[in-house]
Amino acid sequence: MQKKRHSFKGSLGFVMAAAGSAVGLGNIWRFPYLAARDGGGIFLAVYLVLALTFGFTLLTAEVAIGRMTKQSPLTAYGRIDKRFGFLGHLACIIPALIMPYYCVIGGWVLKYLFASAAEGNAATASEGYFVGFITGQWAPIIFFLIFLAANAVIIYRGVNKGIEAISKILMPALIVLVLVIAIFSLTLSYTDADGVTRTGLQGLKILVVPNLREVSAGEFFMVVVDAMGQLFYSLSIAMGIMIAYGSYMPDDANLAGSINQIEIFDTVIAFLAGMMIIPAVYTFIGAEGMKSQGTGLMFTTLPKVFSSMGAFGRVMAIMFFAMVLFAALTSSMSIMEAVVSSLMDRFGMSRAKAVAIETLVALAGGILVCLGYNLLYFELPLPNGATAQILDVLDYVSNNVLMPVVAIGTCILVGWVIGPDRIIEEVEKGGRRMGRKRLFKVMIKFVAPVLLVILFLRSVGIIRI
Ligand code: PHE
Repeated sequence: MQKKRHSFKGSLGFVMAAAGSAVGLGNIWRFPYLAARDGGGIFLAVYLVLALTFGFTLLTAEVAIGRMTKQSPLTAYGRIDKRFGFLGHLACIIPALIMPYYCVIGGWVLKYLFASAAEGNAATASEGYFVGFITGQWAPIIFFLIFLAANAVIIYRGVNKGIEAISKILMPALIVLVLVIAIFSLTLSYTDADGVTRTGLQGLKILVVPNLREVSAGEFFMVVVDAMGQLFYSLSIAMGIMIAYGSYMPDDANLAGSINQIEIFDTVIAFLAGMMIIPAVYTFIGAEGMKSQGTGLMFTTLPKVFSSMGAFGRVMAIMFFAMVLFAALTSSMSIMEAVVSSLMDRFGMSRAKAVAIETLVALAGGILVCLGYNLLYFELPLPNGATAQILDVLDYVSNNVLMPVVAIGTCILVGWVIGPDRIIEEVEKGGRRMGRKRLFKVMIKFVAPVLLVILFLRSVGIIRI
């Protein structure tokens, strides 16, 4: 007999969990950098338009597929159309590839939270601190294990007592922390050794004022592609997560309304992350600091910023890394759930067994990723010009190659095989009206697949924009 599928208690639980997945490292370490680089307000405007069109379309399609089939990603695609079953396999392999390295980075965040409290910013900002830590033999593995164990416990506790309960606590806490840090960031002012004074408010201008001078017409297209790539990753689309979470959505919950709330949540947090980071980096480091993103921004540049803040620096660093930890944890949880729910649905496994298997896989992968900076160090050139260690290889294969393929496949399945009306019907189940229907149809059939193909070709280095 089939056991009854768990579901979120209501829309709020679903929205918090899905927003928790969406708000992650990408919002914090990449969005602000792209916005500052790609013309400030211009990027923000493009991003917003894409979120309301492209993002809305893909997110709606995935959540609706989940709720319609009541299946996890591995089995959902095949349930809709047998020929598309392979997409399910990909949509389950992607989170399985991401989980190990996402947890390794989660471990780094945890380490910095502890170190900011125990050792202080002067230590974490000192030359070579980050490299010393990640190339160490045991410390990265230990922090990774703690982070992974936290995920395993939460996912083992299940949809309501695990995911929903934790998201409802961490997401509001995250908002409060982001707001406090962002407001503080705007009050900053600093005079450097050359006697130049820079303020947080000047930094804010870089983020919000449209900089037409720096973005020519040709570059505008690049801005669009950048914004799309960021949006795609930021909404946790094309890796099975939104299907898994959608499958736990109660039939009477308002799907269209929830999708809007998730988008607003994700975009507002990305913007606030910009308000928090750009003014602070600009004030203490200047234009040079604007070039850092990703791990360099988080673990090298920002500790320097915190150590320049003086009295409040330590509190700010602790609040910041706690906030990042919450963002990373609610994202990694969702990655694990996509795999665990797939194992449960496909093989009829108990949750405990599925969690045990996925934890072991992530454990093995994560240890390899940690050793990638130590015993197993190598430098692999990637098609997009970067050199990579194990972490970057996993990131590249999942984000740049597999995710666009799943997204393109989803557009074809929904737009051309079952037809957009089937999704609209699901969204409108229970008598609710879906807005932007015509837009949804045009996007899913034509615009989204074309944009995705361009994104894919750029990611694999076939075209350069
Ligand atoms: N959406 C998350 C972010 O913006 C990232 C993420 C990637 C979440 C993969 C889950 C899976 O950072």
